[in-house]
Amino acid sequence: MSHKLMVIVGARPNFMKAAPLMRQLHKHKDQFEVTFIHTGQHYDHKLSQLFFDQLGLPKPDINLGVGSGSHAEQTSKIMIELEKLMLTSPPDLAIVFGDVNSTMATALVTSKLHIKLAHVEAGLRSYDKKMPEEINRIVTDRLSDLLFISEPSGTKNLLDEGVDKNKMFFVGNIMIDSLIANLEASKNSDILEKLNLKPQSYVAMTLHRPANVDNKEIFSNLLKVIEEIGAKIPVVFPCHPRTTKELSRFGLIENINKNALRIIEPLGYLDFLKLQSSCKFVLTDSGGIQEETTYLQIPCITLRNNTERPVTADEGSNVIVGVDSDKIRAAAMQILDNKFKAGRIPDLWDGHTAERIVDVLLDKL
Ligand code: UD1
Repeated sequence: MSHKLMVIVGARPNFMKAAPLMRQLHKHKDQFEVTFIHTGQHYDHKLSQLFFDQLGLPKPDINLGVGSGSHAEQTSKIMIELEKLMLTSPPDLAIVFGDVNSTMATALVTSKLHIKLAHVEAGLRSYDKKMPEEINRIVTDRLSDLLFISEPSGTKNLLDEGVDKNKMFFVGNIMIDSLIANLEASKNSDILEKLNLKPQSYVAMTLHRPANVDNKEIFSNLLKVIEEIGAKIPVVFPCHPRTTKELSRFGLIENINKNALRIIEPLGYLDFLKLQSSCKFVLTDSGGIQEETTYLQIPCITLRNNTERPVTADEGSNVIVGVDSDKIRAAAMQILDNKFKAGRIPDLWDGHTAERIVDVLLDKL
């Protein structure tokens, strides 16, 4: 008998988590009948289709086309469309990834329809409820039947919250499956030539968290210290559309020293992998990039006060410095003085997470 699965993705960081699992499920196509849903949370070519193409993701069976909006608008639109779909053709299990609005919206719908839910990347906590992602993580985990955990803190957090340990499976980090599968191909990217960069001679940066870019004072202070760093070693900044909007809304774009801080369009998966694996260090407020740099053993300075991925700082190459200019500057100078920790690669970040997830599904369904 084959199991009906619905795999739901919505935003950029979901795509590299879904790709290895979709591949693995396809290997068991006699046992699983998969419907692949894109909520349409991300719709720009550079945030969505480009990733589908490069990661070899199949075309979604259905795109809900919900687009952007306030949190309530976006979440509710996804819920309304998904509910219709799941009422017509209920799966045995829905599978979601990470902590985006599409993830939580799915969890709310499945639980009310008594459809089983699996959450890949469960148990992560920043303990900062001002982050929309933290709410998404808490709600999704609470409503999940199978919780696939990427690092030891996930197990501890869920046990602390009273989650039944029979629902929890420490399977490792599925995003690292994608990284390992694509690292060789990323070497063929010509992004360094296009940007006229030499390996190790620049910093790669990403910045898009609302806490950093939606507040003019915080954002402009960050830009000041980043430009200071950029005067010593150029900072290359593939800019998320949200950040681009805020840069122009706050009138910050005109004053930027373009030699120190090179703002470019968002990059595809392979180009960004090449940019990040060849740089001197990374500045970021992303969650996933803290993990990718840990695997690549590239120094990473995280411009946030907390992380939901503590293994990247405890074992990996990540340092959490917040948004204090002195701390950011000091961390960057240390790396430029070649004083940094390469760290170690955490357990089960080995490229086989999707296989372990499918083994659990075959056992539990
Ligand atoms: C979302 C996730 C975040 C993740 C990030 C990665 C939530 C709550 N946040 O944030 O966890 O790190 O994706 O990119 O789910 N926009 C476009 N084109 C698009 C999509 C968005 O221009 O294809 C712009 C719109 O102005 C939109 C804004 O970006 O309003 C924010 O998009 P949204 O999906 O709400 O959240 P992200 O900031 O992308």
